[in-house]
Amino acid sequence: MGTVILGTGSCLPEKIVTNHDLEEIVDTSAEWIQSRTGINARRISGKGEQTYNLATEASRKALLMSGIDAKELDIIVVATISSHMLMPSCACFVQKELGATKAFAYDVNAACSGFLYALDLGDKYVRADSEKKILIVGAEVLSARLNWADRNTCILFGDGAGAVIIGHQEGDCGYIGSNFFSDGNLWKLLYMHAPKSNNPELCIEENPGSHIIMEGREIFKYAVKAMEDAVRGLLAKEQISLDSVKLVIPHQANIRILNNLIERLEIPKEKVFINVAEYGNTSAASIPIALDEAKREGRISAGDTILFCTFGGGLTWGATLIKW
Ligand code: ACO
Repeated sequence: MGTVILGTGSCLPEKIVTNHDLEEIVDTSAEWIQSRTGINARRISGKGEQTYNLATEASRKALLMSGIDAKELDIIVVATISSHMLMPSCACFVQKELGATKAFAYDVNAACSGFLYALDLGDKYVRADSEKKILIVGAEVLSARLNWADRNTCILFGDGAGAVIIGHQEGDCGYIGSNFFSDGNLWKLLYMHAPKSNNPELCIEENPGSHIIMEGREIFKYAVKAMEDAVRGLLAKEQISLDSVKLVIPHQANIRILNNLIERLEIPKEKVFINVAEYGNTSAASIPIALDEAKREGRISAGDTILFCTFGGGLTWGATLIKW
C-alpha cells in the first residue's frame, strides 16, 4: 500500500436533458427509459463544455482538495473516448489549461473502464517513485459521439468528468490492487468507428460515422457476470471479505445491471453508491464522478475499504480495491 487519493473533483455540464425531453427527439417514452435503465436525466454539454473543459474543471477541484498546485503535478492521464480532437490528447489540453508545466500528459482508451485502468497506471508510477504527484481524470462528452436518431443508445449516455490527485503516503492505507480483463473478440458488442480512412485501401465502406453502436442485451449479459467474477477474484486474491468493504462504487451503466450485480454479490444496497438516475452512463467519467460525490457527501472516511468495478467497450472490465 502507499498510493493514496489526495483529492477528488467532478464537473457536470449545466444543461439537464430529461427523459421527457428525449421523447421529442426519438420514438421513446420517459416511462420506458426509466423502467429499463433507471435513468431520469443526463447532463449534455453546451458551448464551452468540451471534454477538456469538463476535465480541467474537475481537476481544479481535485487539486484544491489535495492542497497541491498544478505546477507540482508530474503526470496527467485522462481516460476518454470522446475528446474533441484525436490529437493532441485531451490530457495535453488539460495540462495547458491548468498550467501544469512540469507534467507530461497522455490519454488512455479503455471505454467505460478507462478511469480504473488509468488509476492502476498511476499507482505503478507512485510505487516506482514516491515523490510523484499524478492527476488521473475520466472525462467524456459522449453527446458528441451518439447517433441521436438511435433510441437504443442515445437515451443511455451523458457528459461529465471526474478527477483524482494521487501521491504517496506512509501508513496502512492506499491502493490495494486490481483485477482487469479485456476480450477483443467481443468488440462488435459495443463500438465506435474512427473517422473514415483517407487511405482508400483501408477505408471501411460500412463506416456509418463516428458514433456508438451497441448490442444492448448481449452487453447486459456479459457485464453482470464479468463484473461479478472480477470482484470475486479480486477479493479472493487480496483476502478481503465483502463484509469488510465499506462502500462499493460501480460504473454507473444502468440500474438493472447494478441491481443484478448487487443481487449476485449479495451486497446490502446501502453499501452501493448509485447516481445513474441523475447523470446516465458517463462512461470513463462515471466512477470518478461518483467517487467525488461520495467523498463530498461524507460517505468515505479514513480507513474505509472501497471497492470499484467496471465494464465497457473492448470489451474491458475489472475491479479495484483501495483503503482510504
Ligand atoms: N424506447 C422505447 N423502446 C425502445 C427503446 C427506447 N429508447 N430502445 C429500444 N426499444 C425497443 C426495442 O426496439 C425493442 O422493440 P421490439 O421488441 O419491437 O424489437 C424493445 O424495446 C425491447 O428491446 P430490448 O433491447 O430487448 O430492451 P431491453 O429490455 O433489453 O433494454 C437496454 C434495452 C436498456 C439497452 C438493455 O439491454 C441494457 O441495459 N443493456 C445494457 C447496455 C448498456 O448499459 N450499455 C452501456 C455501455 S456498456 C456499459 O457501460 C456497461
